[in-house]
Amino acid sequence: MKKAIVVGATSGIGQRLARLLVENNYKVGITGRRTYLLEQLKTEKPESYFIKTLDSKQTALSGQLLQELTQEMGGLDLLVISSGTGDLNEKLDFEIEKDTLDTNVGGFTAIADWAFNYFREQKQGHLVGISSIAGLRGNRQAPAYSASKAFQINYLESLRIRAVKTSLHIFITDIRPGFVDTEMAKGEGLFWVASVDKAARQIYKAIQAKRKIVYISKRWRFIAFLFKVLPNWMFERI
Ligand SMILES: NC(=O)c1ccc[n+]([C@@H]2O[C@H](COP(=O)([O-])OP(=O)(O)OC[C@H]3O[C@@H](n4cnc5c(N)ncnc54)[C@H](OP(=O)(O)O)[C@@H]3O)[C@@H](O)[C@H]2O)c1
Repeated sequence: MKKAIVVGATSGIGQRLARLLVENNYKVGITGRRTYLLEQLKTEKPESYFIKTLDSKQTALSGQLLQELTQEMGGLDLLVISSGTGDLNEKLDFEIEKDTLDTNVGGFTAIADWAFNYFREQKQGHLVGISSIAGLRGNRQAPAYSASKAFQINYLESLRIRAVKTSLHIFITDIRPGFVDTEMAKGEGLFWVASVDKAARQIYKAIQAKRKIVYISKRWRFIAFLFKVLPNWMFERI
């Protein structure tokens, strides 16, 4: 039986993906800050879920908590980082930016590093990060969110290069959603919003295929292409 941890499994994409993994016979460690939601999910199939309350911003603790969870499950094949936050920040309130950076940069890095080192020790494993299309260009409404997602994209690529160089069976997948119908999808003019179910199914397929970079839903590849080729003077006017 394969073993996975989903960080940020209390709601949204992470919760649906955890369910999908369990439906496909994984043992799944679920984490997040809202313990009652973890307990609720566990009641659906108590023998398949293992819970650990974890605030990713407490970077000094996350490695130890993930280690405990892994021991309780009896090993680890796959770790998915779905935890994340971000807010529109018209006034550039630093506290909002700081919360985003602490979660999406500091918290993300501590967990990604722990997972990579764990997989290096056992010479195999699969790390999946949910970044965002928002990481491809700047965003006037949510600067820290977009910058933190750019960080995640580069960090995941760095770990992938490292895995390739060491010839280990470590796979790194960068999932880049456009809009998915969760609490996180904020702002006006949302379009091509994928359901949580559709997003989780596409992510699950990408994990099975050990894909490197995936856009969710697939049509967001087109926006990614536009983001890459649009000249600055045009992008600044959108
Ligand atoms: N929805 C979209 O349109 C969209 C688009 C692009 C990328 N994404 C990315 O997809 C990922 C999942 O988001 P979602 O859409 O599923 O939103 P969501 O429903 O708000 O889920 C966010 C998850 O992150 C966890 N989390 C937040 N802060 C945390 C912390 N300090 N420590 C531990 N867990 C924390 C939350 O759990 P607790 O609150 O219980 O801690 C929750 O389980 C995020 O990284 C997001 O940036 C989403």
